[in-house]
Amino acid sequence: MGSFNNGKVLLAYALGVITPFAVLAVVGWFGLLPVNSNVKPPDWETAFAHHAFNAAVARNAPRLTDPIAPTDANLMAGVKLFKGDCAGCHGTPASAADNESQPSLYPSPPQFALHHPDKPDYQLFWIAQHGVRYSGMFVFGGAWKKKDGSDPSDQKIWTVVTFLKHLDSLPPDVDAEWRKSN
Ligand code: HEC
Repeated sequence: MGSFNNGKVLLAYALGVITPFAVLAVVGWFGLLPVNSNVKPPDWETAFAHHAFNAAVARNAPRLTDPIAPTDANLMAGVKLFKGDCAGCHGTPASAADNESQPSLYPSPPQFALHHPDKPDYQLFWIAQHGVRYSGMFVFGGAWKKKDGSDPSDQKIWTVVTFLKHLDSLPPDVDAEWRKSN
């Protein structure tokens, strides 16, 4: 290192750091970045995004306790909420395979009928409450707020989460509702 002049080392370092961003900016400017949604993201992109997402959720989601008991009535309310507000993207047993083979959002929404969510309930709650950036996942916190100022949104989100955490053990009537194709 003795013969290097510090200025040159710094310049080389700065160019090394700046060049990838400059290339990205130019590529984006001239319309060379893909923007269509009807494809699956490459594996490296999925691996990176999922890691970043999972780590951020683990860091941000408070460890709340699910207030909704998994009674028949609550699970039935959960499946109905899911079919009304989530299944258009996350599918049902009837639509999941088609949704997965023909992506229509980028990233493609996970099909919970095929892949039961493995995150803890308080993390699922936080995700649905806050939405997911750079994806089609809505913010459901406050989504059901009423004109009189009352807001059952959190309770509804917990009700859907309770349903999602019991996909392995649904009572028969709830399971029948889940599989009914409508
Ligand atoms: C308009 C489409 C759309 C709707 C409607 C929608 N989601 Fe999503 N959801 C997405 C997308 C896209 C992702 C992000 C996928 C990713 O990160 O790879 C996502 C991610 C999630 C995740 C994170 C899954 C994981 O990776 O661990 C949860 C949980 C979730 N949604 C729950 C819900 C619930 C509950 C509802 C209904 C109240 C809902 N979503 C409605 C599109 C949707």
